[in-house]
Amino acid sequence: MNWSPFDPEVMTDPARGHQYLLNECPVHHCDMFEPPFYTLSRYADVEYALRDIETFSSHFGQGPRFTEPAGMLCDPPQHTQYRKLIQQAFTPKAVAKLRPLVVPLANRLVDDILAGEREFDLHDDLAFPLPVIIIAGMLGVPSEDLEDFKRWSDMQVELMGSEDPSQYVDEQTRFQAYMHAHMMSHRSLIESGAEVPEDLLTLVAGAKTDTGEYIPDGDALSMLNQLLVGGNETTTSLITNMIWRLLEVPSRWQEILDDESLIGAAVEESLRFDPPVLGLYRNTTRNVELHGQVIPEGSKVYINYAAANRDAGIFEKPDEFSLHRESKRHMAFGLGVHFCIGAPTARLEAEVALSLLRQRVPDLRLLGDGERIGPFFLWGRRKLPVTWR
Ligand code: HEM
Repeated sequence: MNWSPFDPEVMTDPARGHQYLLNECPVHHCDMFEPPFYTLSRYADVEYALRDIETFSSHFGQGPRFTEPAGMLCDPPQHTQYRKLIQQAFTPKAVAKLRPLVVPLANRLVDDILAGEREFDLHDDLAFPLPVIIIAGMLGVPSEDLEDFKRWSDMQVELMGSEDPSQYVDEQTRFQAYMHAHMMSHRSLIESGAEVPEDLLTLVAGAKTDTGEYIPDGDALSMLNQLLVGGNETTTSLITNMIWRLLEVPSRWQEILDDESLIGAAVEESLRFDPPVLGLYRNTTRNVELHGQVIPEGSKVYINYAAANRDAGIFEKPDEFSLHRESKRHMAFGLGVHFCIGAPTARLEAEVALSLLRQRVPDLRLLGDGERIGPFFLWGRRKLPVTWR
């Protein structure tokens, strides 16, 4: 089988080829991209690569191209310092404080759905606005700029997966100028001794190095960037993917209607079965021999979380979507030092969205599979047509 993540059939259904990679080609070499890259798919290999950060470095970025280290897109000690800086916005206490914001917002979106046409797009009317409004609030930028965020967030991921970054320069400059202006206005507040909002922009804008200087703008903007993208499209995809799979088989939706306690399991199984981030990259700092093959020093390696989530050695009947799995050890949020800092926030939003749809729109039905989002390493629906009777 000639697998590649860019193959149109794999783009349509990324699960195509997972068993081939897992069973026959655990170290895959792809030369359809510049630079060419290797892919690791088995659960144990993915775990090894994510834990051995000295060999599998994040220094040259999470995407398929080699990029300069910035913000948290690097290795310790810089990564540790910057992650610590924003950690307080993601503690269990901070996430618990988000619930009273997420629930009324999701309820308002469902009110609008029920007041509108019976046929609607689950992406546009719920899965997109919910996370983007929440992350805008966490960052401390106005949620009126929602459409701009959507465009910038899409642009960031397209840029990350693109062989030619030059086409994104203008939009990237606009985004950087926007974030920089907000950062500076937060910094002025901090310096004037005025009361500052408790948000991520305050944390990043006020952060200083050991020598007492503000952290470099490039690092600050990279972190804000990562938070906008990380907190936005991925959670949207989790919600669309989960509702898609639940409605695809009417008995699954019925199970959720009959048993509220399955909501958490639905979120975890969706993350396992359809991870919104299919894989991200690391960079080898030495030659690595694995399964009789050598990955040379200085290679890009695609860490295929999605395939690891279908490893039969870890998950029984891995290609079945089941609301009754014991194991929750999926790789959708990565592992190790870069483990997704926003995982509890994403879980909260997805659980609230499903719980409200279950209560308030129980007769939800799928009208089609919609459309896949663009970048090859991400997986979600940019359209998901549904109806309620
Ligand atoms: C379903 C939703 C989400 C998925 C699937 C997801 C996935 C991931 C993955 C796979 C990583 C690991 C990156 C790596 O190993 O290089 C990661 C890291 C990260 N995520 Fe998420 N994420 C989600 C939601 C969020 C949210 C809601 C936020 C913020 C509000 C967020 C912020 C971040 C940040 C800042 C990192 C970098 C952590 C580090 O390098 O230490 N993510 N995410």
